[in-house]
Amino acid sequence: MALLEAVDVSKTFRNDGRETPVLQDIRLRIGQGEFISVMGPSGSGKSTLLLTLSGLDRATSGRVLLKGRDLTNLDEDALAVVRLHHVGFVFQHFHLMRNLTLLDNIVLPAWLAGGRDRERILRRAEELMEMTGIARLADRDISQVSGGQLQRAAICRALINDPDILFGDEPTGALNSQSARDIMRLLADINRRGTAILLVTHDPRVASCAERVLFMLDGRLAAEKRLGRPASGSDDEQRERESELTEWLAGLGF
Ligand SMILES: Nc1ncnc2c1ncn2[C@@H]1O[C@H](COP(=O)(O)OP(=O)(O)OP(=O)(O)O)[C@@H](O)[C@H]1O
Ligand SMILES: [Mg+2]
Repeated sequence: MALLEAVDVSKTFRNDGRETPVLQDIRLRIGQGEFISVMGPSGSGKSTLLLTLSGLDRATSGRVLLKGRDLTNLDEDALAVVRLHHVGFVFQHFHLMRNLTLLDNIVLPAWLAGGRDRERILRRAEELMEMTGIARLADRDISQVSGGQLQRAAICRALINDPDILFGDEPTGALNSQSARDIMRLLADINRRGTAILLVTHDPRVASCAERVLFMLDGRLAAEKRLGRPASGSDDEQRERESELTEWLAGLGF
């Protein structure tokens, strides 16, 4: 069974009586632990795809199945529970809460998910902060750390409930190139530990970390490139993957 499956998903926005089709007949299967990137022109529907597949927003028609469970039939409360337990999000602008420390931001979804074991939750948060290299910043206010550090905290928050899949919408988009590289290494590492990733990005270097790259055009999945999983993870291999992807994108006129 696929981890996540989209069956003929379409989405239309209605504003002032006008209808804008934004997703059209999306068919997609994401396996357990897969790492997939989504590229495509601005306005092609990438963010909408992520919101719709993750249960943050609803399809107009079609079905979204997470571990075989149809999200399109769930009411708001049930959907919120699914999101809290099975899905993590990382955005370009970190969406952390002001007036909370990094640690409090990270553990918040665990309390919201009804976690009662305070010690276990704090241990898990500590583990994640160690992994992402921000353990010593636990008590800092979010205004007192860098963008790269905020994104690490956002990643910890997204992972606190051990989701099956992590959705990222341009998570490196607001970072300088060194921080972006560090965040990508971290995401690749998280994926190797078993979490599936669906990542929207404009950056071929970032996209080429994935095993499959989808290309969106006018609300459709127009093309797919299979790069396979990196073998060695060496810089040479990464450069080769990136140039293979860039060539493919050029062939698509992108
Ligand atoms: N709430 C909304 N109401 C009406 N139209 C919307 C809404 N949200 C998005 N759209 C439209 O849907 C289309 C796809 O938007 P989306 O944000 O998914 O594109 P994107 O591929 O993520 O673009 P970008 O690369 O610029 O982030 C755009 O034409 C956008 O204007
Ligand atoms: Mg977008």
